[in-house]
Amino acid sequence: MLKVAVLISGRGSNMKSLVNACQQEGFPAQIACVISNKPEAQGLVWAAEQGIPTAVVNHRDYGKDREAFEKALHAEITKHGVRLVCLAGFLRLLTPWFVTQWLDRLVNIHPSLLPAFPGLHVQQAAIDYGARFSGCTVHFVRSEMDHGPIIVQAAVPVLAHDTEDTLAARILEFEHKIYPQALRWIAEGRVNVHDEKCFIADVNAPPSTINPCS
Ligand code: GRF
Repeated sequence: MLKVAVLISGRGSNMKSLVNACQQEGFPAQIACVISNKPEAQGLVWAAEQGIPTAVVNHRDYGKDREAFEKALHAEITKHGVRLVCLAGFLRLLTPWFVTQWLDRLVNIHPSLLPAFPGLHVQQAAIDYGARFSGCTVHFVRSEMDHGPIIVQAAVPVLAHDTEDTLAARILEFEHKIYPQALRWIAEGRVNVHDEKCFIADVNAPPSTINPCS
């Protein structure tokens, strides 16, 4: 059973999707702790109600000393025998020190088809660009923001009258599918990184799709 820490900063809907998956019979991972850098993160309450150990490591307590913050975070994570860290709406950029500690054991979900639209407000950015598809990406974390070997992506169409909120909702539905899927593959030992690319054992190729279509 792979022990997992989930790091959040807010709502925590992706954390919930991981917890719900882990609660299913036979799922090969277990959420050992949920940690937030913000005491007010709504997701903490829900996680505690599920009986999951929760903790706050408040970045504000460490001023500008990012490494001291990350050492405290690392110490909290390692208390729980964790082998994988899942970022789920965790709004702190991690330094190379932390990323190296958890190399290829640190995963993030991002609401665009990386490498397109890294950063914040990415749903609006996809609309403003006129992209025909956007989506979400689960990837191993590297020091550069929203960068690293891609495990899985889901594509959703960008529709003519989309707003940031309607597109975000369409993408979020698929975030909640692919993050648990990626966690399962990792826990099953099926994900390998070579030359900064992910290879996943025994997966099928998806169909291609067109937007708009006639
Ligand atoms: C998600 O869109 C995720 O992709 C991004 O931040 C958002 C977090 O939402 N990294 P939630 O807290 O998981 O509901």
